[in-house]
Amino acid sequence: MQKIGVLTGGADCPGMNSVIRAIVRKGMQDGFVVSGIKNGWLGLIENDMRILDARITSGILDRGGTILGTSRMESPLEEHVLNTISENFKRSGLDAVIAIGGENTLKLGLDLFKEKGLPVIGVPKSIDNALSGTDYAFGFDTAVNIATECIDRLHTTAESHHRIIVIEVMGHYTGWIALEAGIAGGADIVLVPEYPIKIDDVCEALHSRHRRGKTFSLIVVSEGANIEGYSLIQKNRETERRKRLTNIGEILASLIEQNTGYETRVSVLGHIQRGGSPSAYDRMIGTQFGVKAVDLVKEQKFGQMVSLHDGKIRSVDISLAVKKRKTIDDDVYKISKIFTEA
Ligand code: F6P
Repeated sequence: MQKIGVLTGGADCPGMNSVIRAIVRKGMQDGFVVSGIKNGWLGLIENDMRILDARITSGILDRGGTILGTSRMESPLEEHVLNTISENFKRSGLDAVIAIGGENTLKLGLDLFKEKGLPVIGVPKSIDNALSGTDYAFGFDTAVNIATECIDRLHTTAESHHRIIVIEVMGHYTGWIALEAGIAGGADIVLVPEYPIKIDDVCEALHSRHRRGKTFSLIVVSEGANIEGYSLIQKNRETERRKRLTNIGEILASLIEQNTGYETRVSVLGHIQRGGSPSAYDRMIGTQFGVKAVDLVKEQKFGQMVSLHDGKIRSVDISLAVKKRKTIDDDVYKISKIFTEA
């Protein structure tokens, strides 16, 4: 009987368990044994895995996080670490690995495929929706829904107190969450990494709203937003490795208060956007991605990643997905400008 290993790497993401469940159910149906590798690629370094079955994966479709645990690891890994992974892969009797993850997890999968001949299949996840080669990475829809609900809640309190509320959302180097939740939540200003802006322009937009009798404003700011002179991304680009982006909401709020005198509050949504139950869409896409990943193993299409393209589940080379970050859709950004200021 052939054995598939499955792992979840990088940031956890709503829908991971839906994918795991689908891989186990479809894998078993197709005659595979499915082994769950603990904590991403780390599980193959530490040889930490266990067989998964329908009972273990029952009732997890709607559960957030990942039953396998996760860890963050970045490419390139040292040669001896790649060797350990490859040796443990062989020793465990695995015939393929399905890596569910974002940029870093998939890059490592690609390294192992290319350099050590590991039969790797990728499944794209990212609340940031920043992976190329696919129209969608699961987790994003849930994050946008959570952020939108938070914006709705902050709307009423901003209005009652005649305040500016800055809502900092995740997204890392891209502005997908800010853009889509900003439009869905009716934000007055949306700030994203892809479009630099001057703080003076933000303040002028707030003044302009006040002159029109709008004494409150909601600003959705992506954690990587490019506010000229204050971009955290610019600073991070100077270092090679992935950095956490923190504090842009606080920086923006204090600049607004200093420059306009308007009372301003900040709400950092943070990991709330990643926690809890996946949306129906993410459960559905996750299930389809999991089933397709098993098909790709059967077809021996190693080095490929499951993808969504024009509404159909397909596959692409992992190299395509990790080559370039997928930035926000300019047409959607233009639409947002009809409803926002600055
Ligand atoms: O990539 C997902 C993400 O949630 C980003 O939006 C965010 O910048 C980062 O992970 C946060 O990472 P951590 O959970 O390590 O703080």
